[in-house]
Amino acid sequence: MSAQPSLETFQKEILSAFENSSSLTELEDLRVKTFGKQGSLTGMLKSLGTLPPEERKERGQELNKLRQSLTQVFENRRDALAEAEMKTKLAQENVDITLTPQPDLTHGSLHPFTEAMWELTQILVHMGFDVAEGPDVETQENNFDALNIPAHHPARQDHDTFYLEDTDAEGQNLVLRTHTSPVQIRTLKNAKPPIRIIAPGRTYRCDSDATHTPNFHQVEGLWIEEGITMAHLKGCLAEMLRKFFKKPDLVVRMRPSYFPFTEPSAEIDIGCRWENGQLILGGSEDWLEILGCGMVHRCVLENCGVDPKKHQGFAFGFGVERMAMLKYGIPDLRAFYEGNPLWTQHYGFGASHAFSALDQ
Ligand code: PHE
Repeated sequence: MSAQPSLETFQKEILSAFENSSSLTELEDLRVKTFGKQGSLTGMLKSLGTLPPEERKERGQELNKLRQSLTQVFENRRDALAEAEMKTKLAQENVDITLTPQPDLTHGSLHPFTEAMWELTQILVHMGFDVAEGPDVETQENNFDALNIPAHHPARQDHDTFYLEDTDAEGQNLVLRTHTSPVQIRTLKNAKPPIRIIAPGRTYRCDSDATHTPNFHQVEGLWIEEGITMAHLKGCLAEMLRKFFKKPDLVVRMRPSYFPFTEPSAEIDIGCRWENGQLILGGSEDWLEILGCGMVHRCVLENCGVDPKKHQGFAFGFGVERMAMLKYGIPDLRAFYEGNPLWTQHYGFGASHAFSALDQ
């Protein structure tokens, strides 16, 4: 009897080891232990030479058959494990296709605010208004007092003012202007009527939600001349709004209101309607408040050395972002200042579209 183990037992052991191997590394280990130079099967094949010639042939054929069948089982198991490992790897390494793609930034686009500001300025300049400017950092005198908003006045609280540590010559803290109305004061103090100016510019209030940002923009308007009435005011604003919204039949109404620096004061509303939660401009089913205006208060004129008996006129002021939101259907004001290039590309304008307010 030879010292060789029973082939059947050997085969069973190897087969079950192959079948139970749970990873390619473990299977490779078994392969080396079985078929490798020092492997069990290799050892058996090597020991053939020690057998007597009559047993050698039969044993050799058996061992070869065994090697073939073990090799087949090994290969099947290896393929199965490789596939399973690949699947696990793919599941773990899946690509997140929801990642924001890089926008195509080869073409810039004009921010909708820029477009709106330019259109509004252009419309008003074509009506005969000159552009005036004032600083963002203002005295309380120009931002409030001269506009008939004294220190105790509740309107000061409404403005959510940013006060600066620096002071003016009188020791009063400077402020970031809360509206463009101080440009009215600067102009009235420095120019002689007739005065017809607009003042587009940055304004600041300590406020942030879907319709307020700490920094926003207004356009102020001021027309002081003998014989100017509220009819001129309404006419100018209706014309501006119809041109801006490109709706010649836009319905515009004046509603009594209050501002300390105008008397009488009014709010301008435009006609609109709502369809499935969407705002549609036009008609007069519903109304949307759009800007504040009025006849310049006699106290403001007197504060600036203008004789209210001789000269009077109107002033108006509106938020530019609000106009852009209404015109372009932009739901949240904060997005204007988030600097997202995809947003700008979506709501923005190409150069050829820009400043087309007057082509109609
Ligand atoms: N300054 C006002 C505001 O910021 C708007 C306004 C300007 C109202 C001029 C009347 C006249 O709300």
